[in-house]
Amino acid sequence: MPYFTTLFVYFLMVLNPVMTNTITEDIDVLVFLPQNNSFLFSHARVAPAIRYAQQRLKADRGQYSGFSFNIHFENSDCDSDALFNLVDRSCGQKPDLILGPVCEYEAAAVVRVASHWKIPVISAGALATAFRDKNTEYSHLTRIAPSYVKMAETFSAMFEHLSWKSALLLYEDDKRERNCYFTLEGVFHLMADHNIKTYPISEEDPLNTDDVIQNIYDTEVVIMCMGADKIREIMLAAHRRQLTKGSYMFFNVELFNATSYGNGSWKRGDKYDNDARQAYASLNTVTLLRTVKPDFESFSREMSKSMKRSGLYCKDCENVNMFMEGFHDAMLLYAIALHEAMKNGYTKMNGTEITSRMWNRTFEGIAGQVSMDVNGDRNGDFSLMAMTDVVAGTYEVVANYFGVNGTFQLLPAFNIDHFTLRGRHKAHPEMPEKSCGLGVSALTGVIVGAVLGTVMLIAFYFFRKNYRITIERRTHGEECDSGKHRQLREDSIRSHFSAA
Ligand SMILES: *[C@@H]1O[C@H](CO)[C@@H](O)[C@H](O)[C@H]1NC(C)=O
Ligand SMILES: *[C@@H]1O[C@H](CO)[C@@H](O)[C@H](O)[C@H]1NC(C)=O
Ligand SMILES: *[C@@H]1O[C@H](CO)[C@@H](O)[C@H](O)[C@H]1NC(C)=O
Ligand SMILES: *[C@@H]1O[C@H](CO)[C@@H](O)[C@H](O)[C@H]1NC(C)=O
Ligand SMILES: *[C@@H]1O[C@H](CO)[C@@H](O)[C@H](O)[C@H]1NC(C)=O
Ligand SMILES: *[C@@H]1O[C@H](CO)[C@@H](O)[C@H](O)[C@H]1NC(C)=O
Repeated sequence: MPYFTTLFVYFLMVLNPVMTNTITEDIDVLVFLPQNNSFLFSHARVAPAIRYAQQRLKADRGQYSGFSFNIHFENSDCDSDALFNLVDRSCGQKPDLILGPVCEYEAAAVVRVASHWKIPVISAGALATAFRDKNTEYSHLTRIAPSYVKMAETFSAMFEHLSWKSALLLYEDDKRERNCYFTLEGVFHLMADHNIKTYPISEEDPLNTDDVIQNIYDTEVVIMCMGADKIREIMLAAHRRQLTKGSYMFFNVELFNATSYGNGSWKRGDKYDNDARQAYASLNTVTLLRTVKPDFESFSREMSKSMKRSGLYCKDCENVNMFMEGFHDAMLLYAIALHEAMKNGYTKMNGTEITSRMWNRTFEGIAGQVSMDVNGDRNGDFSLMAMTDVVAGTYEVVANYFGVNGTFQLLPAFNIDHFTLRGRHKAHPEMPEKSCGLGVSALTGVIVGAVLGTVMLIAFYFFRKNYRITIERRTHGEECDSGKHRQLREDSIRSHFSAA
């Protein structure tokens, strides 16, 4: 009789995958998000995405429904709040998982302490180049949004295919969060074997467009990261000096704020609108590739409702940004890794094991496939936008770059002439214009070669001390204000950008 009971239980287990796969566990999650709504990753925006993931994991009746997430939100002020909070709270029970912070300097401190305690940290921020080094102090960090170096791959691939050689990196440096500084630092690092100049623009000082233009003259490609108004000022100045006739390429990088690029970004309703529209014909934008799938609709609707309920004023509430998407997917990724680890006999206490199971894997996120590289950083997909109708001044996505396989997808609107430097050398013949004979919808993939990227990364690693030309022009304010630099804890995330 006991034999039959055993057999019965055995069959029940074999036939009921839910029963055999569900593992129950309580998980303490500590989330750092700013209350201040001027951030795209504020609590009011991102918390609903985390709650949404939590509910879906629970409701799925699937293998993760046994996980019970106990989520605790704390403020992050992009300074030291998150660190102090983590330390205070951890005197008692340490959290099992930390989500955030997003801001670079704050994340650096939190991730260091968390890594020391072997607590997994997943952030849709911490995008600076230095976080890529996971050997020591950032060992338990998983980056669920594509970092700035991943973005830079888009540029290195373009430079390769179009035989561009030199670039000027123009960025606004606010000396606080330094988003633009870190954004272009990624390009600077990845493209160390090109001729790269940097030019910081201080936030407070008026823009010296003459000096900027002087620096543009001896380069081919200008890559900018700064506020929309300053970009317009520079484009207008370049237009007046006839630099927008095709012998220079202009790019701006705007990854997260969908409302600030593309159609109408040149328009201000002043007397310069017409010039600006013409100037912007040579300004291209690199941004994150956004994908949607059926699940996404309901997510997006739910997010919009939650944001309105919380009284958040936003023009673009329907636009789910990368931070919302990323922190949602962070919950899924952790659940997958924890489940796998527990099935293999580990517990939630082994943060090292869980972290390693989050890396080098692909899973289905809320907006599409999410691919994590072996270093625990998400592979990035980026879109290149260009003005395709100069009369109307409208923008279209002309190409997409897929980080996972290092390929470009050229869309029908792509025009090789637009990306050919005029009055210099011819564009590389390898960038084909044909569309595979399948009609307008057919897309031409150009293989960039992940191998090349890897070689460049390795090459960079060994030769980064030997940047070819780096002119660091400092504004007056900066020279007589070295105290401010110290206050930035410049070495705090081991940035080599301006130190080069
Ligand atoms: C929110 O952040 C912005 C930009 O960093 C800052 O100007 C503002 O003072 C902050 N608001 C509060 C209430 O802290
Ligand atoms: C996004 O861009 C728009 C237009 O440039 C700007 O008004 C808005 O403040 C930006 N939002 C954030 C959170 O940076
Ligand atoms: C955690 O897992 C690793 C294997 O990934 C193992 O070497 C280590 O001993 C485990 N640590 C604890 C505290 O169990
Ligand atoms: C990454 O995953 C692939 C297959 O999924 C595997 O072949 C490879 O060995 C893994 N790499 C590392 C470093 O774990
Ligand atoms: C810009 O406007 C044009 C025409 O209205 C439209 O076809 C295009 O999709 C828009 N581009 C973007 C990026 O929204
Ligand atoms: C590269 O990856 C993208 C996205 O996963 C896919 O659509 C494309 O077909 C791939 N290209 C090649 C050449 O494998």
